[in-house]
Amino acid sequence: MKKKASDSMEAVYPGSFDPITYGHIDIIERSAEIFEKIIVLVTYNVRKTYSFSFKERTEMAKDSLKDFKNVEVVSYDGLLVDFLNQNSIKVVIRGLRVISDFEHELQMAHANKALYNTMETFFLMTDNEYSYISSSMVKEIVQFGGDVSSWVPEKVAAKLMELYKKN
Ligand code: COA
Repeated sequence: MKKKASDSMEAVYPGSFDPITYGHIDIIERSAEIFEKIIVLVTYNVRKTYSFSFKERTEMAKDSLKDFKNVEVVSYDGLLVDFLNQNSIKVVIRGLRVISDFEHELQMAHANKALYNTMETFFLMTDNEYSYISSSMVKEIVQFGGDVSSWVPEKVAAKLMELYKKN
């Protein structure tokens, strides 16, 4: 059978990762079994105010993903489609947790495709265990002294505790 470009594919998993959670890591782990390489792109959502700096969000993602051989963490503050185009990558991975994620994801997938027709968005269902968590929820729980060790790696939990101790 003729080999297609898609036979050896890299994919980008973009997000704010403010901070990275086990929900994100579950999507990354499963994608890394399908694609040859996953680039976790720590980027900006202009609609958000972040709790951690760009550098901190990237460092936490790097540390949490250091054991994955085919996963690289890259920080990038431009348009997602420009990154894809500049690096000849066609696939974007996104996780869907609940029905309400769908509308926003559909809008982003269409907008990205309108800007760069070569790309495709692949959706994975977030594992049931993490389908109700978000970075904001984890931050809120830590702020009130709750335990988030089942939802974020140990070092991320420590960074969160440090953040809310200061404030
Ligand atoms: N498990 C648990 N939580 C998850 C999750 C999963 N699998 N997937 C997403 N989430 C949570 C995130 O923690 C985040 O929580 P928060 O809102 O409390 O911070 C929320 O779901 C949204 O996810 P995120 O991946 O951060 O997406 P986003 O909607 O903030 O950002 C970007 C989307 C960053 C990818 C988008 O803004 C982007 O591409 N920016 C680059 C600039 C650009 O090209 N803009 C045009 C886009 S059309």
